[in-house]
Amino acid sequence: MSGPRIVIVDDAEELSRASADLVAETITRVPAASVVVATGRTPMGLYAELAARRQAGVIDTDGITVIQLDEYLGLDADDRRSLFGWMRRSFLDPLGIRDERVIRLPLDGDLSERCAAFDRCLEARGGIDVAILGLGANGHLGFNEPPADRDARTRAVDLSVVTIRSNAAYWGEVADVPTQAVTVGLRALLSARTIVLLVSGRGKNEIVHRVIEGPIGPEVPASFLQEAGDAVTVFADLAAWGDDG
Ligand code: GLP
Repeated sequence: MSGPRIVIVDDAEELSRASADLVAETITRVPAASVVVATGRTPMGLYAELAARRQAGVIDTDGITVIQLDEYLGLDADDRRSLFGWMRRSFLDPLGIRDERVIRLPLDGDLSERCAAFDRCLEARGGIDVAILGLGANGHLGFNEPPADRDARTRAVDLSVVTIRSNAAYWGEVADVPTQAVTVGLRALLSARTIVLLVSGRGKNEIVHRVIEGPIGPEVPASFLQEAGDAVTVFADLAAWGDDG
């Protein structure tokens, strides 16, 4: 099995276009695709590009099912920091995905039981066709914070200091960032048939090289992508990858 395919592009705009080509091709091939959708800043251009292609009649997203990747715990449904709200604004509404085509993470009740049921549901549906992921500053995928094993299940997690600091950029300040979240586990993500990892900007330079070239292990959760072979395409812009990379 070969390793991840690395696509290095000039800038964030090209990142969006190139990754949209791959996602669009997959959705066209698998119209009923189960698609995991990250929030975060990096995939916003991709989602806008997909919405434009749908608007132009180039792709049809009516048959896909969207699977939520991660969500903070302890927020009201209409809280401005809700990651579901972010996903609705950036992906579900622009792509015309109705609520009944969204599988949401459990946020209350017996979370360990309900997260296990979520994983069983994903498996019963045949797993994930496409996972669209960003890369955390500490190498996390979703909120699979280090250390996270390749077998990690969907679960509630405490957010790390690094993640709380980087997520503060979305909401104002560190005190605005919830300290706990639920995330789809690495086990489900790594078994996706197509994994799209989007990496943009100088701030990701060191971590992307650790992910792709460093030792594989729980301290850099995304490093397990090295074992997921050619299912993985990493799209990195020059700022993230480095000119001499
Ligand atoms: C956040 C989220 C991830 C996201 C990542 C990168 O903490 N939990 O789902 O992909 O970090 O975010 P960004 O694209 O804003 O750099």
